[in-house]
Amino acid sequence: MQRIPAGFLPPVAMDAGSDTPMYQQLSDWFRRSISSGQLRPGQRVPSTRSLATELGISRIPVLGAYEQLQAEGFLETFTGAGTCVARAIPSDMTTEQTKRVRPTPAASPGGSRRTSRRAALLRSPEATWLANMGAFRVGLPALDAFPSALWSKLVSRHARHLSLESMGYGDPMGHLPLREAVAEYLGAARAVRCDASQVLITTGSQQALQICAHVLLDAGERVWMEDPGYPGAHQALRTAGAELVPVPVDAEGIDVAHGARVAADARAVYISPSHQFPLGMAMSASRRMQLLHWATRNDAWIIEDDYDSEYRFGSRPLSSLQGTDTQARVIYLGTFSKVMFPALRLGYIVVPKDLVTDFYAGRDAIDTFSSMLYQSVMTEFIREGHFARHIRSMRTLYMEKRIAVHEAIGRYLGGRLEVIGTEAGMQLAGLLPDGVDDVAVSRRAAEVGVSVRPLTPCYIGEPGRVGLILGYGGASLVQIDEGVRKVAGCF
Ligand SMILES: Cc1ncc(COP(=O)(O)O)c(C=O)c1O
Repeated sequence: MQRIPAGFLPPVAMDAGSDTPMYQQLSDWFRRSISSGQLRPGQRVPSTRSLATELGISRIPVLGAYEQLQAEGFLETFTGAGTCVARAIPSDMTTEQTKRVRPTPAASPGGSRRTSRRAALLRSPEATWLANMGAFRVGLPALDAFPSALWSKLVSRHARHLSLESMGYGDPMGHLPLREAVAEYLGAARAVRCDASQVLITTGSQQALQICAHVLLDAGERVWMEDPGYPGAHQALRTAGAELVPVPVDAEGIDVAHGARVAADARAVYISPSHQFPLGMAMSASRRMQLLHWATRNDAWIIEDDYDSEYRFGSRPLSSLQGTDTQARVIYLGTFSKVMFPALRLGYIVVPKDLVTDFYAGRDAIDTFSSMLYQSVMTEFIREGHFARHIRSMRTLYMEKRIAVHEAIGRYLGGRLEVIGTEAGMQLAGLLPDGVDDVAVSRRAAEVGVSVRPLTPCYIGEPGRVGLILGYGGASLVQIDEGVRKVAGCF
C-alpha cells in the first residue's frame, strides 16, 4: 500500500482542564480517528514537533501518545520518513467502508421550506444496513471473486479507443450491441421473449423502477406491493406519487385473491416472482396464472423484478413470468448489480413493443442514457463469454457460502432463527420469535460491524413476522462464521 500524504488532519480537540492526561486525550483521539476512517491506513501524521507546535502544548505528551500508539500497532514510524497510520490495519477494522452517513437535517434559514408530499414519504434505510461491511450486507456480491484484472483490461482498451461518436449523446434506449446481447442472454437464460428493440438499458434496476413508475402511473394511482417487499421499490414508486397497497405473501408468493379483494382497481403490481425479496420463495405456477389473468382483465401492468435469479441452487433457474405472458402485460426488469458489481450501475427493462416510444421518452426525461464506456465494455464481456463463465463460478461459490451460513446459524443461533428462502440468490431470511425487536437486533449488530437488515422496514402494512435478512454473497467464509456468532450476541 502506498503511503498517503498527510493532507488535512481532522481537528484535534484537547481539553487543558480535563482530568485525563494530555497524552491520553491525544492517543484516544488518534484511535477514534483511525477506527472511524478519518485517518486512513498509510496516511502520514505530523511529526511530534509540529503537532505539539500546532496544538500549543509541550512535545512530551505528544511523544508519549505516539509511543503508546506505536506499541498498540496504530502508528508506524520509518526512519527518516516520518510516522504514518499503520498500513497493516485492515480497512474493515475501520469504518472507512461504512462512512455512508445519512445526512442530518441542517438548521433552516427560515421562511416556508415546504417540499413535496412525495418527498415526505421517502425513507432511506439506515446507513449501517447499507454499509459495505463484510457480513451480511444485503445485495452485495463476492467482489473479491470478480475478474477485476480482466475487466480493467477491457475498460482501458475501450477507453483508449473511444470514438468521437461514442463520446457524444447516445441513444436513450442504450447501446444497440449491448441491447442485442442482453436480449439473447435473457431469451436463453430466463426464457424472456423479446428482441433488442424492446431492451432499454438503465442505470441499475432502481432507475428502471423509477422509469416504470413515471411512465405507467399517474399520481394517486394504486399499486399492489408484495408485503414484506423490497424497500427500493417502495421508494421508486412513491417518487411517482403512487399509492402503495400492501398485499401479503405466503409460501406461493403474492396473494392475488387478497389483492383483488382490497384493490381491484390497482393500475399495477410489483413482484419479484423468481426469488421474493425478502422472504425468498418462488411464485407458484397457479399464482402466476392468476396474476396474469387479473392483470389482463383489469388492464393493469405487472412489474417483474428479476434481480438475482441467475443463482438458483438445486434446480435450474425458473423461467420469467414475462415468458409466459401472452398479453404483453409484464414489464421485466433486470440488473447487472448482482452478477457483475453494484457500482457498475447498469440494468435493463424489457418493454412491451407498443410501449417502447413511451419508455424511450421516459428514459430520455430522467437521465438521457447510461455511460457509453461501460455499456461497450459490458457488451464485450458478454460476447467474449466472460459473463457466462463468471456466473457459473459464482453459483458454486454462493452455494458454498450458503452452506456455511446454514452451519453457522445451527452452531450459534440454533432455534432462535428460523431460516427460510434459501433456494436462490445471495441472501436468506431468518424469522425471529415473536416479540423480538429485529430493528434493535440489527442496530446492535451494526455496532459490532455486522450489517444484517431487519424485516420490519420491508413492510408497508402492519408488520407480520419479524426477522433478519442475511446477505452472504459479499462475505468470506470467515466473516460468515464470525458474523453469525456476533449476531447471536445481539439478542
Ligand atoms: C429486489 C431487488 N431489486 C433490485 C435490486 C438491484 O438494484 P440495482 O440494480 O439498482 O443495484 C436489489 C438490490 O439489492 C434488490 O434487492
